Amino acid sequence: GITRHYHFDIKLQNVTRLCHTKSIVTVNGQFPGPRIVAREGDQLLIKVVNHVQNNMSIHWHGIRQLQTGWADGPSYVAQCPIQTGQSYVYNYTIVGQRGTLWWHAHISWLRSTVYGPLIILPKHGVPYPFAKPYKEVPIIFGEWWNADTEAVISQAMQTGGGPNVSDAYTINGLPGPLYNCSAKDTFKLKVKPGRTYLLRLINAALDEELFFSIANHTLTVVEADAVYVKPFHTSTILIAPGQTTNVILKTKSHSPNATFFMTARPYVTGLGTFDNSTVAGILEYEHPSKTLHSSSSIKKLQLFKPVLPALNDTSFAANFANKLRSLASAQFPANVPQKVDRKFLFTIGLGTSPCQHNQTCQGPNGTMFAASVNNISFAMPTTALLQAHFSGQSHGIYSSDFPVSPLTQFNYTGTPPNNTMVGNGTKLMVLPFNTSVELTMQDTSILGAESHPLHLHGFNFFVVGQGFGNFDPSKDPANFNLVDPVERNTVGVPAGGWVAIRFLADNPGVWFMHCHLEIHTSWGLKMAWVVLDGKLPNQKLLPPPADLPKC
Ligand code: C2O
Repeated sequence: GITRHYHFDIKLQNVTRLCHTKSIVTVNGQFPGPRIVAREGDQLLIKVVNHVQNNMSIHWHGIRQLQTGWADGPSYVAQCPIQTGQSYVYNYTIVGQRGTLWWHAHISWLRSTVYGPLIILPKHGVPYPFAKPYKEVPIIFGEWWNADTEAVISQAMQTGGGPNVSDAYTINGLPGPLYNCSAKDTFKLKVKPGRTYLLRLINAALDEELFFSIANHTLTVVEADAVYVKPFHTSTILIAPGQTTNVILKTKSHSPNATFFMTARPYVTGLGTFDNSTVAGILEYEHPSKTLHSSSSIKKLQLFKPVLPALNDTSFAANFANKLRSLASAQFPANVPQKVDRKFLFTIGLGTSPCQHNQTCQGPNGTMFAASVNNISFAMPTTALLQAHFSGQSHGIYSSDFPVSPLTQFNYTGTPPNNTMVGNGTKLMVLPFNTSVELTMQDTSILGAESHPLHLHGFNFFVVGQGFGNFDPSKDPANFNLVDPVERNTVGVPAGGWVAIRFLADNPGVWFMHCHLEIHTSWGLKMAWVVLDGKLPNQKLLPPPADLPKC
């Protein structure tokens, strides 16, 4: 591999969407941010210089960061944030990974505008396990707020209520023609007939899982979270915040006299709040004859719009998740841990906490919204967990007593229990090096059954099982797929159901795990794992870089 240098200037930029101009935090003035392209085996040196008043840190979502947890990015977990006027060089090597990933700010809600694609090509001379596409196109979904998103989240945290929803969904930063005052801000994919295009889909939205479809075209899914999957055809993709999906689009053999919309809109369950609007981009065929390009004839082009599933189509979600399977081939084996050292059951969900700021808060029954894992709402420390761990000074910063199973007996009946209160603390789970883990995550449905895209830093995991209702430890494991389960870094815990994952804790450090719906993270749906050093030199966390920011 080679060493690639990038320079990220964090600075303000005026951006206009929906006829509304605001100053947003960006990388190098770009929105969405710059595309990083590297190859498997390359070393990346990304210097981030912070010119804005906000603290900043950048996460390289899905990069394993073997032994280099210092470059992972989540503020107060892997590092102290980069303060105004300061800089930090993220230094890591891409080991054994290729595909579509992305990067984003990992502090407060700044990832609403600070995000971009991170594309890892295979090593030189190594082909894709599918025919080489004619062209590759990153498509990154996001959300646009006319308001300042830092104000949106601080208002929600102060009142205890839900945040205001965004004003538009976006494709590559553009809301598209179905929004007022937005037709000129439309993503256009110009294609030639009879070619294949690799679309690298990324969901960078803050709070919404999204359906995506292109009218009158079939998509072939070939990769999820930068791991190849057994190809399958579908008209619609479901993609949660944090997830990436590569699809192949085969264009029609002759340019049709038509324009096709590609659209995305939310998949919403339970209490999820959303804006029932649709982002559209345009798939436009090149026409050999010039006459069709004259404006009068373009108006005559027929327009096709896709039909997306219902907003709360949980069975589409379950079926789509079921279709994702690892290649499990000789060249791309699925190294599913076959034996398990530790089994955990985590309950995941929303709840409430006592009103702290006002006489009455805007959450349920005058309380504040909260969210928890095993009934612990994670309290963010004021210094970085990884430094505390590395220096052996965790006392007063975190405790190692994360509960191994739910504190209260959980029983999903569809009827909420009386007590919705969560506990809180900065509790971590410690694992010896190379522990083989099986983790079952159960949606508590306490305030309504809701899908949660859980993201684990530092690892890929295998999704060995999923189901609706209560996980039954005496029955369900018999049906686990230990042969070709999908390998990924972010998985949806089904609304009113459970998902079981397995991973090998072979990466020493402190690793965040959280719901990638940003509001749920803000409410405390997060925890962290400590993976201890192994005995060999290549099994130890490397020492921190000299420019590591201080709190
Ligand atoms: Cu993409 Cu911790 O996040």
